[in-house]
Amino acid sequence: MLCLPQQTKATLTDKLSAMKVATTLSPPPNNAIIHSQKLCQHIAEAIAPSGSIPFRQFMEMALYEPALGYYVAGQRKLGSAGDFITAPEISPLFSQCLAEQCAEVLDSTVKDILEFGAGSGIMASHILLHLESLNQLPKHYYIIDLSPDLIALQKQTLASLAPHLVNKVTWLNDLSTLKNFNGIILGNEVLDAMPIELFTLDKNNVMQTHVTMNDHQFKLIQKTANKTMSQQVRHRIERIKDDYTSEFNPNIDSWIEQLANILHRGLILLIDYGYTRREYYHPDRTEGTLICHYRHQVHHDPLWYPSLQDITANVDFTHIAEAADNSGLTVAGFTNQASFLINSGLEKLFSATLERAPDQSYQLAQQVRTLSLPSEMGDRFHVMALTKKIQSPLSGFSSFDMKHKL
Ligand SMILES: C[S@@+](CC[C@H](N)C(=O)[O-])C[C@H]1O[C@@H](n2cnc3c(N)ncnc32)[C@H](O)[C@@H]1O
Repeated sequence: MLCLPQQTKATLTDKLSAMKVATTLSPPPNNAIIHSQKLCQHIAEAIAPSGSIPFRQFMEMALYEPALGYYVAGQRKLGSAGDFITAPEISPLFSQCLAEQCAEVLDSTVKDILEFGAGSGIMASHILLHLESLNQLPKHYYIIDLSPDLIALQKQTLASLAPHLVNKVTWLNDLSTLKNFNGIILGNEVLDAMPIELFTLDKNNVMQTHVTMNDHQFKLIQKTANKTMSQQVRHRIERIKDDYTSEFNPNIDSWIEQLANILHRGLILLIDYGYTRREYYHPDRTEGTLICHYRHQVHHDPLWYPSLQDITANVDFTHIAEAADNSGLTVAGFTNQASFLINSGLEKLFSATLERAPDQSYQLAQQVRTLSLPSEMGDRFHVMALTKKIQSPLSGFSSFDMKHKL
């Protein structure tokens, strides 16, 4: 996701320089504050029995608490009127490139598409329209999202952009109806929206970050991590450094295993901002990658008005590869977004769009720059392909495949 105007999320080096890091955030309107207070009450009740909850549980509630969390309550999240912008919102060219990669794999046995976390529904709409133009529509296009609010928006978007294709789309509550799935699973910026465990390394100890209440305010504290969490951290960071804070996603293994269990034959494409493990847990990245978005401003306080801001962390792609390998999936490709888009025909798609709309040349060029320049999304975002029982070539990874770096 991007923070407007045209600035990618923080990296180790650009975290404080290129980003619009907010020093003071404008206060939210009163009705939003009242909404946040309702969620704070729920969080305080969860904290009460033992005096604190792990940060992971706080983040889960802040983002997904039924009817109250950031992703499930009513305010606009994506786009210029929201808090951040994602690649499919920037340009249809992004979804068209994904569709080109899907078209290579869709055949008489790999027939369906399943999209996780479909946001506003814009990616689903443009993928379906492009596959239609290639005469390669999937049999079904399934969507699974945790947000009832976004599902309603997805229905509206599809009805407006691709009304004749709405009958292809089915919204599912979970994976239980998709046994023996022969198809393609897509997830753009879903992994970064999953709750993470925060930890700090201190004098050879792994400390788990908890959230407690102090004087009616939430506060972060450190508690000695249990043996399992300590092992998970030591698996990632061999040499313990003092005052080193970072995070990991404890749900990755089970999520990938679920996908592997339902996938009989096909492809999984995951796109997100993140790093290989070596880069993620670099000794100099002493403050991790957790950031928050509010009205296109970035800051580092996850406790600020729960439910009114996005909280997100980068993805450890080595973790995804490990989980895939353990679940019987093949890591078939890993590259940055720029290479994936170029390999998938970005130039050809750009020229075709330009021919249809020559007056849009400036806007189109800007979109391509944002999607592909290394200083924008091109090198910060990565694409990973996981496969099962398919041999089709994956053109998106035909050059600059970086699997060896994982
Ligand atoms: C940052 S938004 C990205 C939306 C969209 N893919 C895009 O690129 O514009 C994250 C989305 O993932 C969804 N999400 C997060 N965790 C999920 C999960 N475990 N299963 C399904 N959807 C999930 C959220 O509800 C939200 O729609």
